[in-house]
Amino acid sequence: MTNVHQFDVVVVGAGGAGLMAGLYASRGAKTAVISKLYPTRSHTGAAQGGISAAFGNTEEDHPEWHTYDSVKGSDYLGDQDAIEFMCNEAIDAVLELEHMGLPFDRTPEGRILQRNFGGHTNNVTGKPVQRACHAADRTGHMILQTLYQQCLKNKVNFFDEYQVLDFLIVNGKTAGVVAVELATGELHTFQAKAVIFATGGHGRIFEVTSNAYAYTGDGAAILLRRGLPLEDMEFFQFHPTGIYKLGILITEGVRGEGGVLINGKGERFMPKYAPRVKDLASRDVVSRAIYTEIREGRGVNGQNYVYLDARPESVMKYAVADGRTNLDGSPITVTADELLKKLPDIVDFNRVYLGIDPMTQMMPIQPTAHYTMGGIPTNKYGEVVIDDKNTVYPGLYAAGECACVSVHGANRLGTNSLLDLIVFGKHAGLRAAEYARQADFQNLPDDPTAEARAQFDGFRSGSGKENAFDISRDMKKIMFEDVGIYRNEKGMKSAIEKIAEWKERFKHVRVTDTGRIFNTELLNAWELGNMLEIAGVIAECALNRTESRGGHSREDFQNRDDVNWLKHTLARQVNGRLQIGYKPVVITKYQPKERVY
Ligand code: FUM
Repeated sequence: MTNVHQFDVVVVGAGGAGLMAGLYASRGAKTAVISKLYPTRSHTGAAQGGISAAFGNTEEDHPEWHTYDSVKGSDYLGDQDAIEFMCNEAIDAVLELEHMGLPFDRTPEGRILQRNFGGHTNNVTGKPVQRACHAADRTGHMILQTLYQQCLKNKVNFFDEYQVLDFLIVNGKTAGVVAVELATGELHTFQAKAVIFATGGHGRIFEVTSNAYAYTGDGAAILLRRGLPLEDMEFFQFHPTGIYKLGILITEGVRGEGGVLINGKGERFMPKYAPRVKDLASRDVVSRAIYTEIREGRGVNGQNYVYLDARPESVMKYAVADGRTNLDGSPITVTADELLKKLPDIVDFNRVYLGIDPMTQMMPIQPTAHYTMGGIPTNKYGEVVIDDKNTVYPGLYAAGECACVSVHGANRLGTNSLLDLIVFGKHAGLRAAEYARQADFQNLPDDPTAEARAQFDGFRSGSGKENAFDISRDMKKIMFEDVGIYRNEKGMKSAIEKIAEWKERFKHVRVTDTGRIFNTELLNAWELGNMLEIAGVIAECALNRTESRGGHSREDFQNRDDVNWLKHTLARQVNGRLQIGYKPVVITKYQPKERVY
């Protein structure tokens, strides 16, 4: 066998979760991080507005309020023990990043500055609370840079631009992974006692998305093919504010700094949908409100967008209208210079992509596919669990967006994703290193790369005439329209039929580039296979769940149904068919009640 490497722990993915896992694992075990991208190009870099922690640096706040807000935000589907664990660890997690060198914005006294974000509230008044710690609107970018430098300092072994294709199982245990080196096209086998998947989400299955090109659900699809279950895949989050048509994220931090949403009639509409917190309601609520305005003919110029208004004079006007003041009671004043300092990338994106200056013009926005709430089931230590009894799979871990702990349930609060990947990345790394210290390597199969090679060879030498791009374009459109913000039986059944047709056509995809060096056509074809698998799981799980909850909003079942549906979905492939089962939601302190914003 050639190209065989041996590591105690292999981490797949080098975003925030992968780097944090790699850093912690490397302190106790020989660790490699394998990534399809150069690490600092990972999608964590696109996270803008902040990371949540109830420091109370600018006003009263408590981890218990953070916990309650996250449970409520999840529409009571999040596991409350895991949410409490995450929110209690938040302050130490952010301080650790600060001590590693992350340049957070500061209060005049030198504390970490915090801003408002949707769904984060003072639990006594119900008003928004400043809980998001930020580095301008580049918080995720700063996390990536900081963690990557720490990993280099700690001599983590990086395999950059290696795409993982397969997960190896021997005797029911983790044995390693197979990857292709993109620069050469060569296959490599990584024998490992423990593998941590930190491969991110799958927003690229939708037409309009804030997600990077790399977000094609690879980790989840690989494990699904190997018979492992996926949890709560019907829940996908649409972020309210993506740049119209392009989907590029406009951070919720804009509304956190006082920006408001305006429809085509020039009306501010959020007070109608969320009288208490208005533009700072949770994302599912705001995205649906925008969509409703558009569907009822109040989009701008009859088009599928509304405006986000962050012009300084509007920010001040609406603060007065809402009775919002500075914490000392003085009127809120804001200048273009101050906003530019707080939101430099947002201003830049608008200037570059739209030729718009957000200091003098309103920004055209529409909801954009943003975040994968479901994924590879884990417990709060990042250990992958495979059934309704939470049985741990030996040597397998997951963290970050590809994992479902579940701390986000049916709808994630903004800024809880960066927190999730720091907290659970760390624990996955610690647990994997601990496991590797007492486990043996499994003997590799005779030809570990056989399945991966067969997949690639099929694309290179098949006789088919299908083009991956055509299938991909159609899938994205239908997923956005029929399995997007609003769903109904007819649309989802039709999407499921089409996905089956596309899967059939996919068998006949042949690439025109048969070369080995950076063959992106081949890689994209393989990624499409993953997206089709994941799209199928989402559509079937969404059709199966006959209620509305969080990001899963059905026109034909408009109410949340706690009697029948306060449970997680577990979906797995059995003999080529999707089998859907369930597991209970962990409820500790907070009994489900109606969400009022
Ligand atoms: O709006 C944002 O800055 C996105 C943050 C998040 O998804 O947590």
